[in-house]
Amino acid sequence: MKVNNKTLFVTVISIKLLAILLISCQYLDKGNIVENDSQTTENKSIINDEITERKIDSVLSLMTIDEKIGQLVQYSGKWDATGPSSSVSDQYKNDKLRKGEVGAMLNVSSVASVRETQRIVMENSRLKIPLLFGYDVIHGYKTIFPIPLGESASWDLDIMQQSAVISAKEASASGINWVFAPMIDVSRDARWGRIMEGSGEDTYLTTVIGVAKIKGLQGNDLSNSNTVAACAKHFAGYGFAESGRDYNTINIGEFELHNTILPPFKAAANAGVATFMNAFNDIDGIPSTGHKYLQRDLLKGEWNWPGFVVSDWGSIGELIAHGYASDLKQASEIALNAGSDMDMQSYAYEASLKELVKEDNVALSLVDDAVRRVLRVKFHLGLFDDPYKYCNEEREQNDIYNQAHLNVARDVAKKSIVLLKNNNQLLPLSKSVSSVAVIGPLANDKNTPLGNWRAKGEYNSAVSLLEGVKQAVSKNTKVYYEKGVALTIPTIKPGENQFSTPIEFNTTDTSGIRKAVEVAKKAEVVLLAIGEDAYQTGEGRSQVDIGFKGLQLELLEAIKKVNKNIVIVLMNGRPMDIRSASEMVPSILECWHLGSQSGNAIADVIFGDYNPSGKLPVSFPHHVGQEPLYYNQKNTGRPYGLKQVTYSAYRDAPRFALYPFGYGLSYTTFKYDNLTLNTSEIKVNGELEVSVNVTNVGDREGEEVVQLYIRDLVGSLVRPIRELKGFKKMMLKPGETKTVTFLINSETLQFYSVNKKWEVEPGDFDVWVGGSSKAELKERFSVINE
Ligand code: BGC
Repeated sequence: MKVNNKTLFVTVISIKLLAILLISCQYLDKGNIVENDSQTTENKSIINDEITERKIDSVLSLMTIDEKIGQLVQYSGKWDATGPSSSVSDQYKNDKLRKGEVGAMLNVSSVASVRETQRIVMENSRLKIPLLFGYDVIHGYKTIFPIPLGESASWDLDIMQQSAVISAKEASASGINWVFAPMIDVSRDARWGRIMEGSGEDTYLTTVIGVAKIKGLQGNDLSNSNTVAACAKHFAGYGFAESGRDYNTINIGEFELHNTILPPFKAAANAGVATFMNAFNDIDGIPSTGHKYLQRDLLKGEWNWPGFVVSDWGSIGELIAHGYASDLKQASEIALNAGSDMDMQSYAYEASLKELVKEDNVALSLVDDAVRRVLRVKFHLGLFDDPYKYCNEEREQNDIYNQAHLNVARDVAKKSIVLLKNNNQLLPLSKSVSSVAVIGPLANDKNTPLGNWRAKGEYNSAVSLLEGVKQAVSKNTKVYYEKGVALTIPTIKPGENQFSTPIEFNTTDTSGIRKAVEVAKKAEVVLLAIGEDAYQTGEGRSQVDIGFKGLQLELLEAIKKVNKNIVIVLMNGRPMDIRSASEMVPSILECWHLGSQSGNAIADVIFGDYNPSGKLPVSFPHHVGQEPLYYNQKNTGRPYGLKQVTYSAYRDAPRFALYPFGYGLSYTTFKYDNLTLNTSEIKVNGELEVSVNVTNVGDREGEEVVQLYIRDLVGSLVRPIRELKGFKKMMLKPGETKTVTFLINSETLQFYSVNKKWEVEPGDFDVWVGGSSKAELKERFSVINE
């Protein structure tokens, strides 16, 4: 229960910082304590602790309705728009800031800009409630790490947490206190441009990576000035956009939603993520932004999560275009009632919430709850103690883009590379190879490896493949370079807004191919860097054709005629259709968009300083027509059939992937044997141990990702043919054997059943352990009732 204590008014109308201190400290003893109904012991970073709740009570009791609504408003600074630009003037925004009617900004970065914007609020507004500053720090701030899909291929949770720690450190050194990451949308459609921002097609992998990211960004203590508030996005279903077209509708059943899409969000809530962002899409006719069940009933209700939900850019206003609200006022009503706490760039709440409250169409208690959630995050960040705590010029100088961070970026990048093919052990190359031809539109590209959503990554700042190769080889090695063909015209230049610059593909200029063939003829090995431009993936970058754009295949065909020793160095943001290219060459390295240290990391792998250990977090198809494609399909009633055609498959392409989920080669070979279960029968709440021996039978040290899959053979709902349920990444010396053990318990076996609850159903289960989703070693066990 909350009580307004009017005597508090007297003290609060004081000045500047004094007022802030009063808000954070002196109000402690006044006002009643809000019933702590959403406390959960699992949340480490953002919790309902008694002291903070009392401070919030006090602040709330002082606020006018305009000030309350103001806390629910977020504006973009004029610097970078990450969505359709608005017609609202800077003057309007400044006036609102002065009045204390803005809760957060986005796209305001640098200590000077943040300090200045915060100053406007602190020096002019009545209650001096500090602003949040949000930014899209998706894979690094200025030190750029691999795109999230690429980084996920490392299956290395520690290194992914470390890259998040550095991202938070750099962002916070620049004044930012809130980042719109991690993106934990499970996505199975290579056509969707934003597949680059997530962790791929698997729910379990996405879940554990999301938690590692949140830990890295938020640390153990949100009030530390090196850490930032994180944001689990996009809630929910955005990655399932029908036909891979961005922003498109999602048609998904209730059970699939719970089993496949929601688990990473539940885990994020449990890990104490400070904020959620909702999504642009509708799910079965209900836009996520107006989805009461998801936001209010499930997230804030059943899951007891105490943070706040920000809308996606303009998504409250977009309820009108969806045909779900007739005007902005109705959009506000729907969104607030459904649990969208903060309005990013729709200008909806400020225009209509006051009237809606007056008319009783939105309960004041719901507005108060939303404000409470926003203030809670601000208190936990420590902004009331020091609104300028992230504004430290010295840190801005020293903590951003330094050598230590670049070293980690190289480490993450090399661990993210996946060796897809390596016939006759063409790789690794000797550093004293007589000659190498580095060819291709991406061979000397210092920009593409930064990928989309590169925050403050500077144009042309990545180490190119050519630079990395030159650094790595011996003095006697001849390194030739030819671009061969251009990929796009024009590429996006610094200062250009990627959202308003269309990409065109160069399909006419063949003049460089001849020169490329000349150098290919002279070289012992060709490193061919082809794939996708940085802006072929990302928001609004869906494609129906996921093959090689422009004349890249023509270039490969021409080179192949004169030199068979070709290594494709693939740089891309999505799983591509690489089938025909794959047939033409002995070796392929999947190098994603690897970030600032791209060229060095690729050279580490090519010349054997690092033995590749990445595994695909997403299936690579034979053909785009297979999309959406994922390993954990259902069996269907007609899974196989050899003579007749009446089974579930394609007549002109295989049913499964060209390169499957979990797959990736090494320069050494791992052998799996002795798969053992310590019991063949457990009770529904019991547990069992699965162990397997993994031996490095090659002659190089190497890391292997040992993966555990299960299948629930008969269920109250049809279960997938395999599901990843655990993995361990480990280093093995040549000849070394390690016994790897996994624990299987009710958490591993449960699913959201026909009874609409998470439960383990008795019956038989298959279990596989191996180096990919095609693992062959299999055992069976049974689960029986208590
Ligand atoms: C994207 C979000 C992003 C937001 C703010 C939107 O267009 O969907 O992921 O965080 O813009 O830039």
